[in-house]
Amino acid sequence: MHFSGLLSSLLAVSTLTETTAALPSASRSRVTAKSISTVFQFGYDAEIENLAVRPNGNILFTEPSPGANVWEIDPSIVNGSAILRKDFPDVTTALGVSSIGPDVFAVTTGDVGSGFAGDVGTFAVHILRYTGNNTVQTTGPISIPGGKLVNKITPLNPPSDVILVSDPESYHVLSVNLRTGAIKTVLHDAETMNATTSFPIGVNGIRTVGKYLYYINTAKALLARVALNRDGSAAGPYEIVANISRTLLEPDDFAVLPSGDAFIAGSNEIVHVQPDGKFSVLAGGEHQLQLAGATSALFGVGPKSNILYVTTTGHGSAPGNTTFVEPGKVVAIEVSGL
Ligand SMILES: *[C@@H]1O[C@H](CO)[C@@H](O)[C@H](O)[C@H]1NC(C)=O
Ligand SMILES: *[C@@H]1O[C@H](CO)[C@@H](O)[C@H](O)[C@H]1NC(C)=O
Ligand SMILES: *[C@@H]1O[C@H](CO)[C@@H](O)[C@H](O)[C@H]1NC(C)=O
Ligand SMILES: *[C@@H]1O[C@H](CO)[C@@H](O)[C@H](O)[C@H]1NC(C)=O
Ligand SMILES: *[C@@H]1O[C@H](CO)[C@@H](O)[C@H](O)[C@H]1NC(C)=O
Repeated sequence: MHFSGLLSSLLAVSTLTETTAALPSASRSRVTAKSISTVFQFGYDAEIENLAVRPNGNILFTEPSPGANVWEIDPSIVNGSAILRKDFPDVTTALGVSSIGPDVFAVTTGDVGSGFAGDVGTFAVHILRYTGNNTVQTTGPISIPGGKLVNKITPLNPPSDVILVSDPESYHVLSVNLRTGAIKTVLHDAETMNATTSFPIGVNGIRTVGKYLYYINTAKALLARVALNRDGSAAGPYEIVANISRTLLEPDDFAVLPSGDAFIAGSNEIVHVQPDGKFSVLAGGEHQLQLAGATSALFGVGPKSNILYVTTTGHGSAPGNTTFVEPGKVVAIEVSGL
């Protein structure tokens, strides 16, 4: 079911709560959450999966369920409404969205059944390009024929034509040439990318920073990295940066700064991993509901570059309250000490 006509039913709420500086886990850090506020929340039970930030500071986010949509909000407008930028009526879900050039974004879509069962042959990449008059032109789809759950996206040596996409159920990262449609498996590593027998999602969130690709393994709760060649293949060993399994059961996606500081979303919280691998909870908590179903995180731009935007499904995730449900939201965390 799709909701393209229901813009006016969208409800955005804004709440402000001061957080305490308590850091319950492993290490203390000078980086703390100064305030947390909701900048947008759906008016009905819809999830938010992933986000990207436009050069003007607006946020694009994907709705994976019940529709397969891409929305845009201006986070500086209190209780503003969302603009539907693109709907995908032929598939069940929209998954990743990432900036891949100046006001150019890639989006992944496909059919996903219950229990993350991706339907092979349905996954594709689409390009959304803002034009001078603030409308969006879409090109694609570029089909990923063998994809089992093509999900997160990151640019590679921008402004090249090649991007990287993760497939958490194939346990590898693909390069996709947006001009020729050529697809290649460039990264695979059993230890850091395969899933486990108990949970099917392996390599998931991916982001290039400097010469490295940083990535999340959801099933194993790892933040890992690998140095890249220009074609996206491995130029060095696959390294575990942090094993956060005792603090964050199901990490999904993350923000990473040029310093290597990473902010990982998953299981109702954000975990900050320092470049040396020490980690602590920045906001929310595995058993808390403020960031129920946290899916991704990304810093704003310009004067908002200390604001960490977090998306949520609104569905409490394990190991916390898995029966809790609220509409998905975008939360702004003011981060100090960066
Ligand atoms: C935003 O909307 C919510 C829900 O209608 C309302 O409770 C809240 O007071 C509004 N916030 C502002 C700042 O207007
Ligand atoms: C905006 O740009 C689109 C795509 O180039 C074009 O189709 C449309 O006519 C433009 N609209 C205006 C008002 O200029
Ligand atoms: C890792 O996954 C690949 C791809 O499915 C598979 O071929 C390989 O056997 C797996 N290795 C381990 C150690 O599980
Ligand atoms: C991560 O740590 C857990 C225990 O907290 C351990 O069981 C698991 O083997 C570790 N994973 C890796 C890949 O080292
Ligand atoms: C879990 O969420 C449900 C549904 O919102 C609620 O009724 C229940 O009180 C919550 N339990 C806890 C421990 O927060």
